[in-house]
Amino acid sequence: MNQANAPIGIFDSGLGGLTVAHAIREALPHESFIYIGDTAHLPYGDKSPEVITQYSHQLAEILLCKGCKAIVVACNSASSAAFASLRAKYHDKLLIVDVISPVIAHIKAHYHNTALGLIGTSQTIRSGAYQEAIHRLTSNNLELIARATPVLTPVIEDGLVDANDILGPLLNHYLPKDEFASCRGLILGCTHYPLLKPALEKHFDGDIALIDSAGCVAKSLKAKLAELNLLSDKPVGNSEFYVTDYTEQFASMAQKVFQEAHQLTLLSLDTAA
Ligand code: DGL
Repeated sequence: MNQANAPIGIFDSGLGGLTVAHAIREALPHESFIYIGDTAHLPYGDKSPEVITQYSHQLAEILLCKGCKAIVVACNSASSAAFASLRAKYHDKLLIVDVISPVIAHIKAHYHNTALGLIGTSQTIRSGAYQEAIHRLTSNNLELIARATPVLTPVIEDGLVDANDILGPLLNHYLPKDEFASCRGLILGCTHYPLLKPALEKHFDGDIALIDSAGCVAKSLKAKLAELNLLSDKPVGNSEFYVTDYTEQFASMAQKVFQEAHQLTLLSLDTAA
């Protein structure tokens, strides 16, 4: 196969990476992709970096064996725990991109002399990946309020994105409005969180910009594929969805995000070399 027409591999612990896959589909309609949701092992955010790294390498190996030309680590927890080792192992075999660097580039270009909020899983916040990268943007003069919001992922995986009776108290607990009043933007440091945009808009009365990695990642991926002469010339891309455990919630969220039903194929991480 012409390498440019090979698929893009995308993985996450579950359905959060669908937000990234959807942005990639919108920005790059000629590209095919293979999505893996590691639903048997989610959430990643409360696991150790070692275990997240092990799962991430198994997923990357499967995507490499499926002939992908690029891998998108569509999970902040995996990006913060495993991206350095994934890049070291795979960068000479295919293009490999994380979800944190494109957001940092976006912040560098658009936010100066202000405060920003950051929410993510315990792993992402504990890793300090965003905090350190933002700290290095010295001339932007940014203050960062970082908060781990671990209960949000299971709520989203359970499909409760519109359950205001559950989300209202949770958001009040994690994100008291007075503490975040000085923030111009809130970094959604977990690919699940864009699915909570309506609830977050409501919580902050629309007063804070929600900084979502999906669009930033799709834009950066498009530029990198173009630079490497790897843009597909197929009339239209196709998509394949794999999960490591079948869940109704994944199936219905994939349908909601892509507005069409998709067949889900079960896959075991043990198939990785
Ligand atoms: N969507 C993921 C992230 O961006 C993982 C959430 C989880 O599995 O805890 O961090």
